[in-house]
Amino acid sequence: MSIGPNLRWIRNHFYNRLLNPSVKIPTYAFITIETVCNSRCGYCDMWKTKRGNQPTTEEWKTIIDDIRDLGAVTLTFSGGEPFINKDLFELAAYARSRGLITMVVSNLSLFNGSHIEKISESFDFFGTSIDSTKPEVYKEIRGVDWLERNKQNIKKITDGLADLKSSTAVCAMVTVSNRNAGEIHDVLHMVFDELNMDTISFNLIDPQGGENAGNFVPMEQQIDIYKKIILDHMSVYPIMNSTRYISQFGNFEYKCNPYKCIQINHEGTLISPCLFIEGRNFNLREQRLSDVWKAKSTQEIYSNFSDCRKCNLGCVAESAWSTYDLNFMINEVLRGTLLPTLKRVRDRNRKNTRKVECKLEYPRIEYKRQEPVIKVIN
Ligand SMILES: C[S@@+](CC[C@H](N)C(=O)[O-])C[C@H]1O[C@@H](n2cnc3c(N)ncnc32)[C@H](O)[C@@H]1O
Ligand code: SF4
Ligand code: SF4
Repeated sequence: MSIGPNLRWIRNHFYNRLLNPSVKIPTYAFITIETVCNSRCGYCDMWKTKRGNQPTTEEWKTIIDDIRDLGAVTLTFSGGEPFINKDLFELAAYARSRGLITMVVSNLSLFNGSHIEKISESFDFFGTSIDSTKPEVYKEIRGVDWLERNKQNIKKITDGLADLKSSTAVCAMVTVSNRNAGEIHDVLHMVFDELNMDTISFNLIDPQGGENAGNFVPMEQQIDIYKKIILDHMSVYPIMNSTRYISQFGNFEYKCNPYKCIQINHEGTLISPCLFIEGRNFNLREQRLSDVWKAKSTQEIYSNFSDCRKCNLGCVAESAWSTYDLNFMINEVLRGTLLPTLKRVRDRNRKNTRKVECKLEYPRIEYKRQEPVIKVIN
């Protein structure tokens, strides 16, 4: 019998935690659908990569069938720039029709108005990166001058989805670095009050994420203020990060349990245990994911890394907590982030979102190449 995503999530939790089976059920899946990228971000090297030998549409669909049949709940398409891949919408719509909750993260450069209906049909969560309110800072971080155009396109998407009464939530993905940490308060208000987006997710820069990513790590004082700004706004806006994430910011206490997430690269290769540690690769065009996953030797790779916490990435820590901590899932994820986001989508569709008059002020620690300088903005 086929069960819906919510029940699947609960089934996976109890099956994996209580029975501790030798073959675990994965809950999340992640496909780097395309490695190449047309942006030039300073903290990411994806744009320096080349296209690979990629699966055909039908081969991808077989992989998606297996992801679903293994019991996964969500499927995220990322990159590189996912919009570069001609199969993106077809594959996401297919995955959704198979009962997976679908997500994507895009730099929005290839968006045009005709995509709005496809976004609505293909994705439950549509994420787009937006790191700054200032064109010159956006350009400095991301190497391209796309802020104003992307803002206009985000408005078209949120308005268009509201007209369609779509259930798709539009999420701002903000990578926090020393360049934008001083303007996080402005970013929050721009995302909700100006762009009418449905939710926001903050991720601290990973210094290992690119050759020059270390140059973007925020200063300690910036992090303290940035944490406070987000915590102060948790009850005001639907923020995708949990309070646990914000409180442990940059020093996460978690056990990865990498079996929770099937990670597949652009060539259709399962990377076990994860894309950060290339333990063992399985070509899913030659072997079925369902067979590979259930092999004793594959499960051993995952169990060898069950205590790993090498990543200091919020998304990894949060998805780990979600998989083994029921209290976190119910109170932080469901009540703290998902329900407020769904309410915001409903209000958006009723054209009933309101601008927040915010009187809060914060010291603004601007990035300086040498010593940071504190100046209070009135
Ligand atoms: C790798 S990108 C792929 C999707 C798309 N190209 C985009 O930028 O939205 C996914 C997310 O990772 C973030 N990212 C890239 N490099 C990072 C790093 N070194 N540390 C933390 N996040 C990073 C990006 O800002 C983006 O929000
Ligand atoms: S962060 Fe996204 S847009 Fe920027 S270079 Fe990396 S993949 Fe491209
Ligand atoms: S914590 Fe370890 S196993 Fe988990 S995603 Fe990071 S590197 Fe991989």
